[in-house]
Amino acid sequence: MIGYGFMGRAHSNAFRKVGNFFDLKYQPVLKAACGRDEEKVKAFAARWGYESTETDWHKLIARDDIDAVDVCAPNDQHLKMATAAAKAGKMILCEKPIARTGAEGEKMVAAVEKAGVPNMVWYNYRRVPAVTLAKQLIDEGRLGKIFHYRAKFLQDWTISPELPQGGAGLWRLDAKAAGSGVTGDLLAHCIDTALWLNGNINTVSAMTETFIKQRTHTLTGKVQKVSIDDACAFLARFQNGSLATFESTRYARGHKALYTFEINGEKASIAWDLHDLHRLEYFDHGIEGKLRGWQSIHVTDAGGDHPYMDKWWVPGLQIGYEHSFVHQVADFINSLGTKKPASPTFKDALETQYVCDAVLKSGKTGRWEKVKHVK
Ligand SMILES: NC(=O)c1ccc[n+]([C@@H]2O[C@H](COP(=O)([O-])OP(=O)(O)OC[C@H]3O[C@@H](n4cnc5c(N)ncnc54)[C@H](O)[C@@H]3O)[C@@H](O)[C@H]2O)c1
Repeated sequence: MIGYGFMGRAHSNAFRKVGNFFDLKYQPVLKAACGRDEEKVKAFAARWGYESTETDWHKLIARDDIDAVDVCAPNDQHLKMATAAAKAGKMILCEKPIARTGAEGEKMVAAVEKAGVPNMVWYNYRRVPAVTLAKQLIDEGRLGKIFHYRAKFLQDWTISPELPQGGAGLWRLDAKAAGSGVTGDLLAHCIDTALWLNGNINTVSAMTETFIKQRTHTLTGKVQKVSIDDACAFLARFQNGSLATFESTRYARGHKALYTFEINGEKASIAWDLHDLHRLEYFDHGIEGKLRGWQSIHVTDAGGDHPYMDKWWVPGLQIGYEHSFVHQVADFINSLGTKKPASPTFKDALETQYVCDAVLKSGKTGRWEKVKHVK
């Protein structure tokens, strides 16, 4: 495990819990946690049950007793850590976005393909049971032809101009570390889900804005230009002919992590909201008129009808955010040695990165931009 912040905790929790709930081909063993601050990484390792610690990730990757490396460091670290891990023949689980740019992502895909190592990117929302159920309903053809896809991811934590940029906890405001603002951080999730549910996006037209132009940089102490996108809204055309709108901001006062999507098809519509993540809203036009209306499906059927839920409690008892990571670890482990890798692979995540690149480019040019596709 490299990094002991938000995701370091979320993933450690998943690695510890997964074997209690899922039948696994292999049990994860928490060999080592790595972070630059010795005291902090030792405390983290003790809390989560890692056998040892390292303060230099190169040493971690060089160790013979490590089979898999989990990259939970900021985005500017992904390329170097993942390519070094691939070279050393390790399996790699890497946080999203795969990298800061498509060009970096391409190098990472090339590295894991050359090394032939299993790889995955943590777009965990795919494995919220209600979202997985949405995928099943679409694949079963229940929505018919899809006309519209609508997604947004809203937060409000950067409104204060006093908030500095850069450094621990605030690297997301520093374009050098993060690559971009809400596009790579929040819209990347919306795009990954969208590509998974509705296929590739061909063209985008975006507007981006940086509301606070200058902030003190934590590392230099100087007031510096802010180069991230604070907000981004874009239109998109999918390959299947459907139209989409995506919106994200960290300036939507009152919203903390409002990720929602809605899909309108010829026969049915679905809608999902992260704040109520165990529910899937479903409208089926096939139901007789007098009973027709939006259904709110409580995705907790443990009898086998709802994805992943047979592994947890009894019908009616819901699970939450952290379980999406448990599901992703279980799928990764059980995909090992099979011909079907757990998704999203580095290659899948590169497709999302290409959409982000086109969105950011369009935000600058003010024109519709074509999305590059993974070969
Ligand atoms: N899947 C999701 O929903 C989700 C949610 C949050 C973050 N993320 C992603 O996870 C990654 C980490 O984000 P976070 O919120 O956990 O950040 P964080 O700031 O909470 O933690 C980052 C960790 O990386 C460590 N780190 C930084 N540089 C390092 C280096 N050179 N060597 C070793 N450790 C280093 C930091 O000390 C810290 O422990 C990012 O890529 C982010 O985009 C994904």
